[in-house]
Amino acid sequence: ATQRVGGRVSAAPIVSRVSRRSLRCEARKVALLGAAGGIGQPLALLLKMNKFATELALYDIANVVGVAADLSHCNTPVEVTAYTGPEELGACLKGADLVVIPAGVPRKPGMTRDDLFNTNAGIVQALIQAVGKHCPQAVIEIITNPVNSTVPIAAETLKSMGVYDPKKLIGVTSLDIVRANTFVSKEKGLDMKDTDVPVIGGHAGATILPLLSQTTPPTSFTDAEKKAMTEKIQNAGTVVVEAKAGKGSATLSMAYAAARMAESTLLGLNGEPNIYECAFVQSDVVAEVPFFASKVLLGPHGVAKVMGLGELDAFEQAALASMLPQLKAEIQKGLDFVKNPP
Ligand code: NAI
Repeated sequence: ATQRVGGRVSAAPIVSRVSRRSLRCEARKVALLGAAGGIGQPLALLLKMNKFATELALYDIANVVGVAADLSHCNTPVEVTAYTGPEELGACLKGADLVVIPAGVPRKPGMTRDDLFNTNAGIVQALIQAVGKHCPQAVIEIITNPVNSTVPIAAETLKSMGVYDPKKLIGVTSLDIVRANTFVSKEKGLDMKDTDVPVIGGHAGATILPLLSQTTPPTSFTDAEKKAMTEKIQNAGTVVVEAKAGKGSATLSMAYAAARMAESTLLGLNGEPNIYECAFVQSDVVAEVPFFASKVLLGPHGVAKVMGLGELDAFEQAALASMLPQLKAEIQKGLDFVKNPP
């Protein structure tokens, strides 16, 4: 079977691409936690336009009622509801098939993703406790940074509640793939809608490792080009943080990338075959770390299969070896936050 990398999402706008198809639509409730934020609002709009969602439950600690009222006027069939504050979180989550989490603070200039740990670790832990209680069967997609640590926090939290299913916990790294596809297709003059660059590892600095040698369609890079392109993809988030000059980090491209991930996940849940995305999941692909981003096959229960890395060239092998200590430490920091609280 042909691999459909990135579900059906190509560079074509999501709505036009999906509306050309008429797939069967099962009742699917999507809960979005942090829905009033910079990512939350455009992501809510894209989910309101999604053909495979039937209900969109928006949650935030403030300002979400207005977002829902606004969105509910779009004449697409997705039913929109709003929930504010922890006392309404249970109702938001009840019956959800997919929970997407962009709640938390973003970077300001000069910050690394790890600098967000102190604030965001507790936010993710509390939200995941509610997910574990109210919809333990749902697929969970975590956008909140530092993803390398928040996903392990979620895993440990769910484990402590006895409801952890590694197939249903996904760290969203799809923005790295979206960026790599855009930059590589532009530099190499490839058709953007057909370009696919797998990105493995994690979602912070050097842990973001594009596999340029596995670019589809095949293309070649000199050593200097390879180094420059890898760094451009790794630093792309920081470029946006600096350009926004204190007003946040990537929100629109992140919403686009998360909508792609959500759509692929819903397609998988609906039984569509051959839906692949790169994502940060529990993995034994690299022996040194318990979580790793690589291509995964999505299916009726979330992650159906974690794929291998394929063949890495010498540059990629060296980059992988040198970033593993950072990735390992960031994963451990997340695990420790739950297992040995400070
Ligand atoms: P934002 O500050 O604009 O929005 C965050 C929202 O979360 C706000 O509406 C806030 O009220 C809400 N929130 C805070 N605490 C909450 C809680 N306990 N429960 C529910 N909602 C809560 O931030 P933005 O730009 O939307 O970024 C959100 C997160 O996404 C950040 O951690 C950022 O670093 C991360 N991010 C991740 C990317 C990725 O590739 N995985 C890319 C870009 C950002």
